[in-house]
Amino acid sequence: MDWSKFPKKIRIVEVGPRDGLQNEKQVTKTSDKATFIKELVEAGHQTVEVSSFVRPDRVPQMADAKELYPMVEDLLKTGVDLPCLVPNLKGLETAKELGVKEVAVFTAASDTFNQKNINATISKSFERIEPVVKEALASGMKVRGYLSTAFGCPYEGKIDPARVKEVALRLEELGCYEISLGDTVGTGSPRSVQETLDLILSDIDVKKIALHFHDTRGTALTNILTGLSMGVTVFDSSAGGLGGCPYAKGATGNVATEDLVYLCQTLGIETGVDLKKLSEASLKILTLLGKDTTSKFLRAYKNADFNLFIPTPS
Ligand code: HMG
Ligand code: MG
Repeated sequence: MDWSKFPKKIRIVEVGPRDGLQNEKQVTKTSDKATFIKELVEAGHQTVEVSSFVRPDRVPQMADAKELYPMVEDLLKTGVDLPCLVPNLKGLETAKELGVKEVAVFTAASDTFNQKNINATISKSFERIEPVVKEALASGMKVRGYLSTAFGCPYEGKIDPARVKEVALRLEELGCYEISLGDTVGTGSPRSVQETLDLILSDIDVKKIALHFHDTRGTALTNILTGLSMGVTVFDSSAGGLGGCPYAKGATGNVATEDLVYLCQTLGIETGVDLKKLSEASLKILTLLGKDTTSKFLRAYKNADFNLFIPTPS
């Protein structure tokens, strides 16, 4: 590998409080979520996705978004970004009332997944998203775009990279400052990531692309390595490897932030995140949830001295 081509620094979008918790059946106390978010910021995170303004009956764990956001918004003063997901104008109205500074809209490269997730085909989803993005931008908000099932769909199987590119271009044209390609069910491989990125990066600046891997089949870190080798500098991950999508049965958590940070440390890539503080925050929320972690690093951290040898490049 040509390590000299790898970025020196990446930005992590910590999605634990949203993507990580949204699939948990037992609803977490709002105050515990707020503490979790504060600890993630104390660990050095610059971007923490707080919650989503979606139908509470569809995702009960996110039903307290209106109460949660004001409990953490003071963190904005430290310069961090606290994005929230909005599926439609109703969600955007709530975001505006609360003074949210960044929102994320979401669609997919698969009609079937989109239909189940947001009750809209890809084309219908753009009818909804378009006014949301326009109004959000006009209100001075930053808008990020999620593109789910970019590397495979639980219902339609293989996804044509050309379709992914088409949807990515539409999100970019609308004004999304960044497009996060979601491997919703963890079927991406280094090869499919490379092929999809090759196609997309011929028309979209790499600085506008983020990668969002669920680690359902254990390929997330190799996929990230592929993204890094192609110049991607933004990765979504979830503290402790929490997560899943309520509309993608069997999908497990996002790649664990600890594993991503550890990988970056071994490669000499700066993340700004303190592994020890992050690990402690993750262990705390996992204990509250009564869950074990899927993070390999966190398991090692729990079971060994923290002074684990972290190899760094010479
Ligand atoms: P819909 O049923 O098509 O909406 O839902 P509707 O406009 O027909 O309205 C139906 C009812 O919902 C109405 O209530 C609305 O007021 C209400 P009623 O009049 O019947 O009492 N409603 C809302 N309530 C609160 N907030 C709203 C809202 N909108 C309508 N914003 C909708 C469409 C998208 C809202 C719905 O399907 C939904 O909420 N789905 C949940 C989607 C979701 O949160 N999925 C998980 C996040 S995406 C993800 O995880 C993937 C990602 O991580 C990337 C990856 O991994 O690939 C990002
Ligand atoms: Mg996700």
